[in-house]
Amino acid sequence: MTIPYIEYTNSHRLQEVDSTNNYCKSTKVKNGEWVTAEQQSNGRGRGLNKWDSLGRGNIFFSAKVQIELDKIPSLSLVSLLVGSATLRTIHNYAENREEFSLKWPNDIYRMNKKIAGVLIEASTKNEIVELIIGIGINLIFDSGKENLNYATLYETEFDRNQKEKILHKLVENINIIMQKIYSRNITEELTWIEYNSYLKDKMIQARVNKILINGKFVGYSPDGFLLLYTESGIVTLIDTDPDFKIN
Ligand code: BTN
Repeated sequence: MTIPYIEYTNSHRLQEVDSTNNYCKSTKVKNGEWVTAEQQSNGRGRGLNKWDSLGRGNIFFSAKVQIELDKIPSLSLVSLLVGSATLRTIHNYAENREEFSLKWPNDIYRMNKKIAGVLIEASTKNEIVELIIGIGINLIFDSGKENLNYATLYETEFDRNQKEKILHKLVENINIIMQKIYSRNITEELTWIEYNSYLKDKMIQARVNKILINGKFVGYSPDGFLLLYTESGIVTLIDTDPDFKIN
């Protein structure tokens, strides 16, 4: 098996689809190909969440990548690192980089509102994991959608012509991240993520095993879990239960 790689020129361009992740799972899409749609009618988020569409022309992206099972440290880490590739892409096209950050486990924020999300789905057959890497990025609001609780990258319709360049950069940055995962060379990336974390310097309240704990953000474990410094030492928060409050 070769290093996982998405080929920018191998894309499926759709006008409208329920969810690019659903389409990407089908046999129409081969390993290393990706899907984008102008409009997504039933976008999915993590767990039971939905990804509300801000309208036609925003970024709805999914890629299919196969990788050997023993090359994947944990899905949480892959999700965090794909979040990092997304944040790097946004930084590339944003005027004020410092407004954008990564909110564990998989959200990109602009100031205090969500601008992008990552949904990774995985299935395993014969020791090979097939990853469906889904990313939604809000470029601009369509009229009537402004009151949704999201942020956007741009304000004017004119800026939408950046979309193709952003998609290109996104593919490039995911490829860089997949290489790093494959060669287990992620220490520097985790430091970068910690530096660009929305939770940095914040106090966090979470429920772990039904017990309420308060702690300060310390960073991430090598598996991509959140580490909090609490009265009783370092506590690890895993992303299957990411319900937490920022104080
Ligand atoms: C989340 O915020 O929990 C993740 C949101 C992921 C949304 C993207 S949009 C493209 C792809 N298709 C989907 O149905 N979901 C992802």
